[in-house]
Amino acid sequence: MVDTLPVSFGYENIKRVIIPENELKARIAEVGKCISLEYSEKPLLLIAILKGSFIFLADLCREITVPCEVEFMRSSSYVGNSTVSTGNPKDIFGIDKDISKYHVLLVEDIVDTGKTLVRVTEQLKKLNPLSLKVCTLLDKPERREVDFSPDFALFTVPDVFVVGYGLDFDEKYRNLPYIAEVSL
Ligand code: IMP
Ligand code: MG
Repeated sequence: MVDTLPVSFGYENIKRVIIPENELKARIAEVGKCISLEYSEKPLLLIAILKGSFIFLADLCREITVPCEVEFMRSSSYVGNSTVSTGNPKDIFGIDKDISKYHVLLVEDIVDTGKTLVRVTEQLKKLNPLSLKVCTLLDKPERREVDFSPDFALFTVPDVFVVGYGLDFDEKYRNLPYIAEVSL
């Protein structure tokens, strides 16, 4: 297990490990069990919001012991000017299923201001899923700007910028096996 800070070139901004790999694994196993109980005998569709949730989704789905299907979507509202949402319905793409036949569990990397998930859940609701819940790896409640509470939040993190385990800064650090604080 690699929970020590990497020292190689390009990792100078990594300040400290916040959630080590073994804690991620244990908590994901725990929540995988809860999800399996809740969705037994229900058609379950996991929808992961790319790119940040790709590693979490891969580990979480292997801890789910009931049948489930997987789709991916991207949230494109911050394309270009990073502070202005396009509010464009093209936010949702890549889902080529009729989700009205499924209980949908959205899988996200982190809830920060909450704006992404408010917008994405509103759009998914229009497609009439049997139910819609949100599972996020990380929750940063101090940063919330809109009223949003995830149904499953595995870890609460302080108001610092975090990377690793799928989360990036400028597309880097997604491959770190733990969650770390980065100095910007
Ligand atoms: P929102 O502010 O809740 O809409 O979050 C938007 C997106 O910003 C999240 O899905 C993440 O991809 C990204 N994000 C927010 N905080 C962090 C962080 O600390 N590290 C990496 N990405 C973050
Ligand atoms: Mg994200």
